[in-house]
Amino acid sequence: MPLDLSHKFPRRQLGFWPSPIHPLLRLSRAVGVEVWAKRDDIASGLAFGGNKVRKLEWLAADAVAQGCDTLVSIGNIQSNHTRQVAAVAAVLGMKCRLVQEEWTKWDDPVYDKVGNILLSRLMGAETVLEGAGYSTAIKETWQRALEQVRRDGGKPYAIPAGASDHPLGGLGYAHFADEVAAQEQQASIFFDTVVTATCTGSTQAGMVVGFSAQPKRRRIIGIDTAADAAMTRAAVTKIARDTAALIGLNREIRDADIEIEPRFAGPDYGLPDAATLSAIRTAASLEAMLTDPVYEGKSMAGLIAMAKSGEIPKTAKVLYVHLGGAPALNAYHNAFA
Ligand SMILES: Cc1ncc(COP(=O)(O)O)c(C=O)c1O
Repeated sequence: MPLDLSHKFPRRQLGFWPSPIHPLLRLSRAVGVEVWAKRDDIASGLAFGGNKVRKLEWLAADAVAQGCDTLVSIGNIQSNHTRQVAAVAAVLGMKCRLVQEEWTKWDDPVYDKVGNILLSRLMGAETVLEGAGYSTAIKETWQRALEQVRRDGGKPYAIPAGASDHPLGGLGYAHFADEVAAQEQQASIFFDTVVTATCTGSTQAGMVVGFSAQPKRRRIIGIDTAADAAMTRAAVTKIARDTAALIGLNREIRDADIEIEPRFAGPDYGLPDAATLSAIRTAASLEAMLTDPVYEGKSMAGLIAMAKSGEIPKTAKVLYVHLGGAPALNAYHNAFA
């Protein structure tokens, strides 16, 4: 039975769904396992899109219903998430205030000028560069930004990092599971393995909940990109359980439902290692599929290594979920020099 969440929770459609699925023929040959991609990076549309558009559809409806006039969020300087919040604010006709913290030390003179932050500024968002260090905790910098909007007479809508630890944060990727099941039926295929990048948690959490509602079990491999698998596991678990309770899932989310793979996160959040960079080149040169050094390059590295080593068996049918992120590539040009 589909979850049918769009009939149960208000949603403002912002992307162009369903996002396409297609086989990655040359990559499959290279790794020895059948791999398909689900292209949320393409179908999410708004200003180069990404996974946040899918999540923000539910928060946008809530922000409008509450009569808010300013979206306030937080992320890294090169955050894809804050760029997508800026995009959503633009199409809703709202203002946008973004706290851009330094979550990573990437040494490039244009790191705070090109890529995601440039696009956010083009869309009219106010970018406040302050704060440091990745964490899923509620940040004082974000609270200050909310307070500033109130002091200026506005009505802020608070969106946490990654739109994750928010009551509605898991709905987008729970709904995604219905979309995948419908596409599987059309293509006469079943993906027994799903590979996704994971960080602030609501993408994987939503998937875990959405796929749990379906009769056939599958493996969902979350490739940690925060370089802190324990923190990522805690975030995914909390959001999955909260989302399951919100939608009234008739099955408990167990610890074993949440697979976090720690080996491909590189030295730190936002920092690629040799395997990340090699995976980015592989996906680009075999499939013209662009991945980034912060997220999808790491999930691609995990997919390649686990398929080649047999940790993903040769008989598997893998769905690699592409969650966006390519706009950050320009800020990392020196990684490819
Ligand atoms: C491109 C991309 N992939 C993956 C992720 C991870 O998603 P989540 O934060 O929901 O775990 C993010 C955001 O953090 C992202 O921007």
